[in-house]
Amino acid sequence: MTERPREDNTDDVGAANQRLWDAWSDGFQAMWNADTAEGELPPAPFPLPDASSSEWSTDERPELDGADFVELGCGGGQATVGAAREGVETAVGLDFSTAQLRHARSLRNLYGVDAEFVAGDVTDTPFADDAFDIAYSGWVYFMIEDIEAAFREARRVLRDGGLFVFDVPHPFYELFDPETNELERSYHAAGPRRNNIDHDLEEDMIVFDRTVGELHNALVETEFTVERVLEHPDMDDPDEYEDNPVDSFQPDLVSMVPRSLQFWARVT
Ligand SMILES: C[S@@+](CC[C@H](N)C(=O)[O-])C[C@H]1O[C@@H](n2cnc3c(N)ncnc32)[C@H](O)[C@@H]1O
Repeated sequence: MTERPREDNTDDVGAANQRLWDAWSDGFQAMWNADTAEGELPPAPFPLPDASSSEWSTDERPELDGADFVELGCGGGQATVGAAREGVETAVGLDFSTAQLRHARSLRNLYGVDAEFVAGDVTDTPFADDAFDIAYSGWVYFMIEDIEAAFREARRVLRDGGLFVFDVPHPFYELFDPETNELERSYHAAGPRRNNIDHDLEEDMIVFDRTVGELHNALVETEFTVERVLEHPDMDDPDEYEDNPVDSFQPDLVSMVPRSLQFWARVT
């Protein structure tokens, strides 16, 4: 993704990002499915590590059997379908893009699992209070202007003891210019920032580069207890990037910088 200079006429951030996702959805899902051979099912991974992972300490992992799971900003529904395959009681995905929801429903039908996909905004969902045990969101909240409103909504729909897991592009990684591999702005410049995803698309993606501390503090403000902060590289061996280049970043730089930032927070 290359960046355009910030313009002040970002109009309504949500409406602009919704148009972007409707226009980009087919191209984005094609990336998800790029390695799917003919006759194979496309990927639908469950986003939480299994119970044997050392990332959990004792009895932290929620019981999936009987759990109600929601994916906030479900895109093509991979995590929601993955949750249904893991045996949760109910699996629900929400997204504001009609085109993304169409892909999600078609993935569900391919797998033949029980999952529901509904239209809505992550800051104002149609769900009842205390409806879910697990809320997951993958690479959505960096597009949200009012992050506390989004976290409050996740908090509202989760039951006591419920687990909220989300990830965003790591704000440190996002600081580098892929052309020069140099820092291109301050870590403290939160945005909004326009990303030109594809020159054929009319819309840019409008994003917010919140620091790790800002995300943490917004969770505290919305009454979550933070249990984990995980910072994962794409790959940590520079040699692996020879066969799997990431944008135009140099392997020795990108292997030293976390690609994604994940929070696990609990309703206590
Ligand atoms: C990068 S995709 C992530 C989806 C999925 N986790 C994945 O990895 O493909 C971001 C998704 O968030 C959705 N989204 C962005 N802002 C949203 C909002 N305010 N309310 C609902 N969905 C939103 C977009 O439509 C898009 O489907």
